[in-house]
Amino acid sequence: MPLPKAELHLHIEGTLEPELAFALAARNGVTLPYADTEELRKAYEFADLQSFLNLYYGLMAVLRTEDDFADLADAYLARAAAQGVRHAEIFFDPQAHLARGVGMGTVVAGLGRALDRSEAVHGVSTQLIMCFLRDESAGSAMETLEAAKPYLAPRGPIIGVGLDSAEVGHPPAKFAEVYGAAAALGLRRVAHAGEEGPPAYITEALDVLGAERIDHGLRCMEDPELVDRLVRDRVPLTLCPLSNVRLRAVDVLAEHPLPKMLDAGLLCTVNSDDPAYFGGYAGDNFRAVREALGLSPERLRELARNSFVASFLEHDEERRARYIAEVEAYEFR
Ligand code: HPA
Ligand code: ZN
Repeated sequence: MPLPKAELHLHIEGTLEPELAFALAARNGVTLPYADTEELRKAYEFADLQSFLNLYYGLMAVLRTEDDFADLADAYLARAAAQGVRHAEIFFDPQAHLARGVGMGTVVAGLGRALDRSEAVHGVSTQLIMCFLRDESAGSAMETLEAAKPYLAPRGPIIGVGLDSAEVGHPPAKFAEVYGAAAALGLRRVAHAGEEGPPAYITEALDVLGAERIDHGLRCMEDPELVDRLVRDRVPLTLCPLSNVRLRAVDVLAEHPLPKMLDAGLLCTVNSDDPAYFGGYAGDNFRAVREALGLSPERLRELARNSFVASFLEHDEERRARYIAEVEAYEFR
């Protein structure tokens, strides 16, 4: 039995496996610029975040109908469950679909269908977070929030907002207004910061956007005062070790700062980001850091506990306590 964990940094579009991409392409009459899954997989050689994003946005062309989004999420939840994920807070990128003429209603209804039955089918509880693309305008983000209004919790599945896509040159402050509007609507707030961008983007995400968790946040280690603040305020960081290697944020996994970050007292979690592209799901990321960094069972337990501590389960503290009890009772073999 795998270690129970929550997944807090997962882009649903990044779970599109080559096999499903080709199946959806055939179903929707979309022609992909790759002969087969093998040729597509060979393209998964990334120099940086942008080179990945180009492929990631391109392959989304196969996602067209409600069924497509339901099948995508269902396939992810099955894989996640098999790797011990008990709770998933799932990102999606509405602007990437709206730009292709796929409506918010189609995307949310499809994802929502898979999420609604996830607990019964996979034993995984779920929440949905919509991300704004930071390389699009602030106005576009505000229009996206407006379009999402019928689908916000408690009526709909969307419980929060996030910020993703190309980081450098797109500081968090650009999105101050839309994050303010999201907060006024009762939405939770997270933001990618300090993946490729400088530590100052992390500070800005906290101060200007009111971010409650930082996605990645790796580069906080360059600013000791910021580390002190993140420790003191117990700000969760959603790290994605295999992603960091594949997008060259770190050279090799053995040099990942995770052990130093845990030693510093940071509230770190381990997640998969875009597992179909980066070589593994949540459990694969846990195994990779155990093997490459020699993390002890108690460190792994801490990471799993942190994932539930950092999750947005305030509406169901009983559930959070139950999940944490599963972590404490877990016996490592
Ligand atoms: N970083 C930024 N944007 C993203 C990522 C990421 O790792 N994955 C999908 N969108
Ligand atoms: Zn991400």
